[in-house]
Amino acid sequence: MNPAKPQPAASISSHPRLSAKAERFTESVIREMTRLALKHGAVNLSQGFPDFPAPAEIKHAAQEAISADINQYAITWGAKRFRDAIAEKFEHAQGMAVDPEREITVCCGSTEAMMSTMMAIINPGDEVVVFEPFYENYGPDAILSGAAPRFVKLRAPDWTFDPDDLAAAFGPATKAIILNTPNNPTGKVFERSELEAIRDLCLRWNAFAITDEIYEHMLYDGAKHTSMATIDGMRERTITINALSKTYSVTGWRVGWAIASPEVTSAIRKVHDFMTVGAAAPLQEAGAAALKFPQSYYDTLAREYALRRDRLLAILAGAGFHCFKPRGAYYIMTDIAAFGFPDDVAFAKYLVTEIGVAAVPGSSFYNDPADGRTHLRFTFCKTEKTFQAAANRLAKLPYPRR
Ligand SMILES: Cc1ncc(COP(=O)(O)O)c(C=O)c1O
Repeated sequence: MNPAKPQPAASISSHPRLSAKAERFTESVIREMTRLALKHGAVNLSQGFPDFPAPAEIKHAAQEAISADINQYAITWGAKRFRDAIAEKFEHAQGMAVDPEREITVCCGSTEAMMSTMMAIINPGDEVVVFEPFYENYGPDAILSGAAPRFVKLRAPDWTFDPDDLAAAFGPATKAIILNTPNNPTGKVFERSELEAIRDLCLRWNAFAITDEIYEHMLYDGAKHTSMATIDGMRERTITINALSKTYSVTGWRVGWAIASPEVTSAIRKVHDFMTVGAAAPLQEAGAAALKFPQSYYDTLAREYALRRDRLLAILAGAGFHCFKPRGAYYIMTDIAAFGFPDDVAFAKYLVTEIGVAAVPGSSFYNDPADGRTHLRFTFCKTEKTFQAAANRLAKLPYPRR
């Protein structure tokens, strides 16, 4: 060995530096809670996936598609039958015609639809406005696409925002606002007047609205879902994200889509093609069948989720939680201050290990963890058996001092 010649260092710490972007966020807290629930045998009220069967019709349609050998790549931006069904359903539900040939991209879940959208529109120096608390993926989505997030608070108990806060978050660098209605984790359903206020700012600052509408059918107490794309002046600057995951109880299928103007769609399609090529072909065929379900399917879905919401509200209130009653989606945000724990993470760990119930610490929905330290989120996309088991375990929880 020639000592004068630089040698590659042998130590393990000398491996090439990892992505600085990836270093800026942690693994998903929500999905970690599911793993902890499994490890401790806890009742899992953390991650939003149903523990009841998907509709028989969608499962049969998937089985038939596989038997019929629809097992090779679909068109990269989505099987024609599925895109046609997405356009038909959007028009039926929202009264807006979209062109399945030029305005729809089918992706691997709404997760990929959001990421492909962000990568398709963001340039260095761009900012995105995000309401918080927010679905935790939006933070890493912003980092990975290179956008700087500007957060605007939704304030309890009814999760309204201050129009001045929103106006202050917009500016010449704003590329988009990310909106999620019905909202995870708060259960807020944005009113038309709120969407119009957002529209005014998007027009003023020439910004897109990216709207995640994955809980569009989970609405309670007469709440109505309005798609941002249908607000006057917003059709061309809205990207509507949705998926099969929640509406048809198939979160593991990973099929979602983005609806956008032809120009935006062609950019999304390019990113999507090189990121994933396409979503599972037979499951897109099953999706085409599901999107043709009659209105009664969606009415029953909302009615059954309202009953589940009320069941979990009663259980949590009985155990001493202060609950914020959701008007949409399938989560209950709670306030845990009265339990006297140092913070949400300490309480969530105690709940999963000592009491046997998994929930998500509120801090995972905020940019500054301190803002979520008195919150814990529970999901109610569960069966009565699961609720009963959770109720039995939560009965062991010492009732908080007021
Ligand atoms: C607001 C929101 N968007 C997107 C997703 C993920 O959706 P998908 O399974 O379609 O990727 C979730 C899952 O919990 C969610 O709550």
